[in-house]
This record gives sequence, C-alpha cells and structure tokens, in this order.
Amino acid sequence: MSSPVLDRVPSSECAELVDAAINSRQSIRAFTDRPVARHLIREILATASRAPSGANVQPWKTYVLQGSARDELIKKVCAAHDAVYANPDEAKKYQEAYAYYPREWISPYIERRRENGWGLYGLLGIAKGEKDRMHAQHQRNFRFFDAPVGLFFTVNTVMGQGALLDCGAFMQNIMVAARARGLDTCPQAAWNSFASIILPHIGAGEDEMLVCGMALGWADPNALVNTFRTPRVPPEDFTVWLE
Ligand SMILES: Cc1cc2nc3c(=O)[nH]c(=O)nc-3n(C[C@H](O)[C@H](O)[C@H](O)COP(=O)(O)O)c2cc1C
Repeated sequence: MSSPVLDRVPSSECAELVDAAINSRQSIRAFTDRPVARHLIREILATASRAPSGANVQPWKTYVLQGSARDELIKKVCAAHDAVYANPDEAKKYQEAYAYYPREWISPYIERRRENGWGLYGLLGIAKGEKDRMHAQHQRNFRFFDAPVGLFFTVNTVMGQGALLDCGAFMQNIMVAARARGLDTCPQAAWNSFASIILPHIGAGEDEMLVCGMALGWADPNALVNTFRTPRVPPEDFTVWLE
C-alpha cells in the first residue's frame, strides 16, 4: 500500500524524521500556558487513531479538557489528594480500575523504578525524608504539570485486557504525533486512583473505565525538571534472537 507522503520522501530521511519524533519524546513535567489550537489537537487524535487494534475495534474513548472543565477538575482532585495526604485512610475511597503497577516488585524492575524516582527527585533537590515537597511535586500531576490541555482515555468495561494494549498504542501515537508538531506530553497513570471523581466530572458512562490521563502542551524550555532524560537498556538485554 502506498503512502502519499512517505513515497515522496527518501526512506533514509523518512527514518530520520520518524526516529526524531520518537527519540525526542520524553515525559514533560512543566508546560507553558500557551494554548493549543483545537484543530491541532484534532489532527493529532486523527493521526493517532491510525493505531492498530484487535479486529479494528478502536476501543479508546478520549476526553479533552481545557478551560474551566480542566480547572474545576484540578481543584477537585488536588483537594482529594491533599485529604489523602492528611489522612492516609482516605486512600481507601480511591481505587484504580486495574492494577497498573505490580503489588510486589521484583528485580530488575524495582531498581529501575527507584533509579527513576530518585533521579527525578534528586534533580529537583528533594531529599528522601522531605514528604511535603514530595507531595507537592506529586500533586503537580493533578495540575497536568500546568499544561493547558488534559486528556483522559477510557475503554468500555466489557472489553478485555487487550483493549488496554490497543489504548496504549493509541496513546503512544498521540505522544509521537504531538512531538512531530513541536508539542509535548506526559502520560499520567497518577490520575487513575481518582477515577471516581474524574469519570462523573467528564460525563463518562457507568460502563467506562479510566485507562490513563495525559498532559499535552508546549514544554517550558527553562524548567529544570524537563532536563530529566531517562536511560534505556540496550536491545541485547531484552531481546532473544532465535534462528
Ligand atoms: C502509562 C504511563 C503512565 C505514566 N504515569 C505517569 C504519571 O502519573 N506521572 C508522571 O510524572 N509520569 C508518568 N509516566 C512517565 C514515566 O515515568 C516515564 O515514561 C518513564 O520514566 C520514562 O521516561 P520518559 O517518558 O521521559 O522517556 C507514565 C508513563 C506511562 C507509559
């Protein structure tokens, strides 16, 4: 099948462009307040919807929050997050629809997770016991890291686990398509436990489950937190070649 754009570009240049969009994606945790035009968001969503899905069911549903819809949700969730911090028993009220993280961590994932957490907090000069500062940094999630656009992804609860996989492919396409337009993102599972606040706020049906949130906007080029570049293990460490 031919592609009207890619057929015009020599394949080496094409690889360079696509790889640049993928490689330049990183989780951005400080955005400017510059708005994102609706047509740009729509274009990104249309491109992202070319993601494959089992039997082409396209199980993702997307909610785009801007303006007061965004601001009001921030108020509600930040208040809940503060209440949990003040009284950890409150956390029982807030359940995620599926376990994103394991209950028990094993090596090498636990070491990678620690390296990531301390790398980020270390960069921000937040030491281990500084709970208030950690809470404040974590709470930036619930302000979409100041991004003017918040996205939520849901799937119907009747769908199987495969729908989460499909939704992940769709989300990755959004993040790469955003990069191709100079925009940045941060995928955010942090919102998941507050689904009981988010789903009614966005008008989702009883049959929808929250898969993830995402911040979308223009990165703040002066923010220290945005210099956080995470490592990856090389293919040799995660690939088994069979011949
Ligand atoms: C599904 C998903 C959920 C995530 N949730 C959060 C989140 O709630 N808050 C956050 O700051 N980062 C979140 N991240 C970002 C990861 O920490 C980040 O992808 C990882 O450290 C690799 O760094 P990079 O995205 O900059 O390459 C999430 C990433 C994924 C894929």
